[in-house]
Formats: sequence, structure tokens, C-alpha cells
Amino acid sequence: MSAAPGVALRVHAAQLLDAVLHRGRSLKAELAAALPLLADPRDRALLEAIAFTALRQRARAEAALAQWLARPLGRRDGVLRALLHAGFAQLALGLPAHAAVDATVEAARALGRAHQAGLVNALLRRALREGLPPAEPGADWPSWLRAQVRADWPADADAIFAASAEPAPTWLRVNRRRTTPEAYAQRLAAAGIAATPSALAPDALRLDASCAVADLPGFAAGEVSVQDGSAQLVADALAPAPGARVLDACAAPGGKAAHLLEREPTLRLTALDVEPSRLAQVRATLERLGLGAGVRLAAADAAVPAAWWDGEPFDAILLDAPCTATGIVRRQPDVLLHRRASDLAALTRTQARLLDALWPTLAPGGALLYATCSLLREENDRQIAAFLARTADARVEPLPARFGRTSGSGHQRLPGEDGMDGFFYARLRKEVF
Ligand SMILES: C[S@@+](CC[C@H](N)C(=O)[O-])C[C@H]1O[C@@H](n2cnc3c(N)ncnc32)[C@H](O)[C@@H]1O
Repeated sequence: MSAAPGVALRVHAAQLLDAVLHRGRSLKAELAAALPLLADPRDRALLEAIAFTALRQRARAEAALAQWLARPLGRRDGVLRALLHAGFAQLALGLPAHAAVDATVEAARALGRAHQAGLVNALLRRALREGLPPAEPGADWPSWLRAQVRADWPADADAIFAASAEPAPTWLRVNRRRTTPEAYAQRLAAAGIAATPSALAPDALRLDASCAVADLPGFAAGEVSVQDGSAQLVADALAPAPGARVLDACAAPGGKAAHLLEREPTLRLTALDVEPSRLAQVRATLERLGLGAGVRLAAADAAVPAAWWDGEPFDAILLDAPCTATGIVRRQPDVLLHRRASDLAALTRTQARLLDALWPTLAPGGALLYATCSLLREENDRQIAAFLARTADARVEPLPARFGRTSGSGHQRLPGEDGMDGFFYARLRKEVF
């Protein structure tokens, strides 16, 4: 691209947001494609910040366009609309007006929208003067999902919407085979990175400000991983005994499998994922951490044990089930764009199918941890209540308060509580008759 670097970045931002906002593409996939196109790490960080901020304030930006435009933008104006979202995001990020406005106006020209450059300039200058109009809590949630959250969490819904619109802190998981959170925090401090250990998740450090993974001392050598505190609590909830035969039924990209092995290298672990490309991520995760040896990896539908199970029961099973991801909207704001009401019904069926199919592979006396990053009761406490009702040899084991509030037979942390992602855990024990 021949445009100046600042302009190229805005062009990338507009194209990325156009794909996510208007063509159903995932933010993660679009960022993975766009970031390598920018040579300067500061530009990559800015593109990421623009994309996340734009999606987090989408409802307010749409309200501004609805109020400020005499005529709504047309169907063919998708990239222009996306560029405006990117421009508003830059103002929200506090970029100097000349950089935010001028480079975005230039980007309109570079995108073949010279005839609309004046409009972009006028709208961004108005946003600079007035700010974006406010929006109702949850305005950027699809109406069916907003109603579901309000029905499931009447007293907490507004706090859920607010927390989901905030940037998430970076959490690190320290590889306890190599170091401790306290010792690693000191190394971070020496590198100018402030971090705080967690009273709830024993291997966790929470960074005061986000930083590039490459800047984390010892990352490539496997001393540390990036993982939210809620996700780290899974290893505590399952806590398999040394030498246990363990199944991670939905393992990709492998964060929780790796944590289980860092905790207890003697586990005999089988890790499945139905997506072969995602299973490759599990392999890469384990290799970086030096944990791959002895792990059995299989690309398979966990709900069809005949295809992958040798018949020897597992002592412990982790079912970190596919879900609506409604507890991690702050990390994946595009969830709100892509989720359909029909997804909830389909996911709930898949979760039930996985629970029913995996239960016979668990040894009597063994534990199955059911976890989701959802906050919908249908996927969480109601899912478990229905499973318990139809499974005679299953009983639930309560977990301590650090796993979140009691919710039916499980435990729910809502997004932002303790600085962590929204998560649900239920530990099920198989009766020995
Ligand atoms: C919440 S993610 C798992 C995250 C993972 N446990 C970790 O900590 O990195 C759910 C995963 O389930 C996989 N999945 C969905 N349906 C599945 C099935 N029927 N059998 C096995 N894996 C499945 C998805 O491909 C996805 O990778």
C-alpha cells in the first residue's frame, strides 16, 4: 500500500471492522490475518486497541450515526461505516485529534471514498466536540440475549453488561514446575511490568497493564502462559491425583490441559478436540511448555467414545464444553454480533450429548468437571440439574467460595468479579455402588 503508515493502519482497521461488523467474520481470525501486515509492534497494538474499542462502543457509535446523519448510510457503505467506527474508537482511546481525524479522513480517500472524506471529517469532529451519545446498558447485546441475561440474572444484568464492555486485564499462569508467582512477579518488576498474585488462583498473576507476550521474560521457554484466572481455577476444581488417567474432552487450544500437566506431570492424559486444526494448537501449546511427551492427542467427537476410547475408564474428566461464550464478551466482543438464538439451543443439546456420552467412560469414584465460559443458566445450572435428574450414579460435589457464587448445583462467577472472566463449574462424582 502506498499510503503513509498511519493511513494504512486506518485502512486495515476499516477493512477488519467491515468484515467483523458486516460479514460475520470473527475478530480473532481477522486480527490474526491483519496484524502480520503491520511491521511496527506499536501499530499492531494500536490496530488491536482500535478494533476492540470500536466493538465495545458499537451501540454508541451506531446511535451517533443514526442521530447525526441526515440520510442513513447505504448497504454499499459498509467499509465507510466501519472506518467511522474506527475513527470514533481512536477518539475514545485519546489519540490526538490530528492523528485520529486527519489519518482517518485520508484513509477514506485510500479506500476509494474521496467523495465521503468531508462527511468523515465532519462526523469525527462532531464526536470530538460532543462525545458519542450514551446508550442503554446492554444496548449492544442482541435483544434475545439481553432478555435472557436479564431473566437469568435480574439483579446483576446491568453489572454484567457494564463489565462485559470493559477491557479485560491480562492474567498470567506461572508454570509452577519452573518458578512461583512471587518469584516471577519479581522478574516482571525488573522488566518494568507490574503484576499482582491472586488470593484465589494459586498460579496466577494479574498484570496492572497489558503487555506484548513477547515482552514476558521466559515466555518462549514455557515459564509462563496467558490465561484468565477463572480458567486457571479449573485445575483446582478437578485436581486429579498423581498418575491419574485423565480425559480432557474438549481440549483446544490446550490451556487447561497444559495447566493440569504443569501441576501434575505424572498424569496419563488423553486430549481430544473435534476440530483437527484446533487440535494442532493443543500440540503447539504442550510443546512450548515441554509437556507433550506421553499425552495422547486425538481429533475426535468426544460424544462418540466408540471412535476413540480403549475401554479403560478415566479417573477424572474435564468437559470444558463448547458454549455461547457469554462470560467472556469482554475478551471476544464480537460474540454479541455473531450469536443467534438458535445457537443456544444447539449448544445446549451438544453439552447434554457430551455429558451423557462421557459419563460411562468415567470410573466409579471418579470426578467429571463440567465447565463453561457462559453465564446462561440453560448451559450451566439447568444443564447440570437435568443431567443429575437422568443419571442415577451422579452426585454433585460443592466447591469452595473462591469458585464463585452457588448457582444450582454448580458455581458461577459473573464477568469482572474478582477481575476474572465469567465462568461456571460443576464437579460431578460417580457413585460407587
Ligand atoms: C471452550 S473450548 C475448550 C478450551 C480448552 N479446554 C482450553 O482450555 O484451551 C471448547 C472446544 O470444544 C471443541 N469441541 C466442540 N464440540 C466438540 C466435540 N463434540 N468433541 C470434542 N471437542 C469438541 C471445540 O472445537 C473447542 O475447541
